[in-house]
Amino acid sequence: LVNKPEVVVFSVPSYACQRRTTLENQNTTLTDALSLLAENAELSNEDGRGVAFRRAAAVLKVLPSAVQSMSQLTGLPCLGEHSLRVIKDILENGASNEVESTKKSEKYKALKVLTGIFGVGAKTAARWIREGIHNLCQLRESGHTLNRAQQAGLEHYDDINQSVTKTEAEVIQEMVEKAVASVLPGAQVVLTGGFRRGKMSGHDVDFLITHPEEGREVGLMPKVVSWLEAQDFLLYQKTTRNSYLESKEGPGRPPSNMDRFERCLSIFKLHSVENQAAVQDVTKRVEGEQRSDEQTRPWRAVRVDLVVSPFSQFAFALLGWTGSKLFERELRRWAGYEKAMCLSSHALYDNKQRKYLRASSEEDIFAHLGLEYIPPSERNA
Ligand code: GTP
Ligand code: MN
Ligand code: MN
Repeated sequence: LVNKPEVVVFSVPSYACQRRTTLENQNTTLTDALSLLAENAELSNEDGRGVAFRRAAAVLKVLPSAVQSMSQLTGLPCLGEHSLRVIKDILENGASNEVESTKKSEKYKALKVLTGIFGVGAKTAARWIREGIHNLCQLRESGHTLNRAQQAGLEHYDDINQSVTKTEAEVIQEMVEKAVASVLPGAQVVLTGGFRRGKMSGHDVDFLITHPEEGREVGLMPKVVSWLEAQDFLLYQKTTRNSYLESKEGPGRPPSNMDRFERCLSIFKLHSVENQAAVQDVTKRVEGEQRSDEQTRPWRAVRVDLVVSPFSQFAFALLGWTGSKLFERELRRWAGYEKAMCLSSHALYDNKQRKYLRASSEEDIFAHLGLEYIPPSERNA
């Protein structure tokens, strides 16, 4: 009798919003590789390819154990020819040539550096690269006129490209809560984005603000911003007002994916406890030891996104701003293709019944969509 080695064959539903994706990942080598190719595609303005790699990575993230052989992947959704080739290379050779050469390529490195500037997207970076600009030095020397966001982005480049810790996010949350309570008592502040999903670090800190009495939230953002500015908590901010009602949407018109909440993209000046300790250390240090401004100043710059939502749309806004980006995209795809509904961060429209479906919680929205409820900590697709 010959014992066949047991091969675990995995089974995974096709939409990420049907799956529970925690932060635990048994296949980080494979998912890091596919995520890098996704990022490279997105930075090269090839969004279709980017999504394909993101979907493939997301399927591997939910597998309960490390993939050992290609045969285990039979029948899994979202694994296209290209992704399978990358996986095969890694399983057989320990690495993928495509991934390794992408990492080393001048174009990828330049795109990473330039889009690391807040306010610079893939299109602007590509234009600069065509002009021979590959790094910050060359950008500064080029004499290009930068907009206000990009100037702030360049000025605080190192801080913004250093990830934000959970502890820092909590300090920022206290600042935002204090600001909001001061200008509109009773208003609620909720931490969204990656930190709501349980991540220990992030590229920014995201908040959603609302007030249980509909209408009280109108005009809130400028007041919050003024309060924060008066405390010298802001290094940069750009507020965009709510344009939902003026848009072509409204009753009978299905909502688009673009959301129109009043929002503020900002850079906070965060005085941290650790930084203050570092400053005191420095003052005690013997003279002559050179330290850069960066290391001695008692604060750091942190990207913060603030969004204000009317209470009636709060559940949609919360679901829409919690992420992950792929999870959101999959929810909208599920709604459209499987349910003939249109989901946005404002509303859910049923094309068959020709009406908006109300929701006062995220659970309500999953129920309308015929999906099992997935809590934030399991939306890490
Ligand atoms: P890190 O910040 O990198 O840790 O991850 P994150 O998941 O928090 O990403 P990010 O801050 O970029 O976005 C948080 C959530 O807000 C995601 O679900 C995005 O889909 C959503 N989001 C970001 N920008 C927009 C936008 O312009 N419109 C809408 N509707 N959602 C957005
Ligand atoms: Mn975020
Ligand atoms: Mn954000």
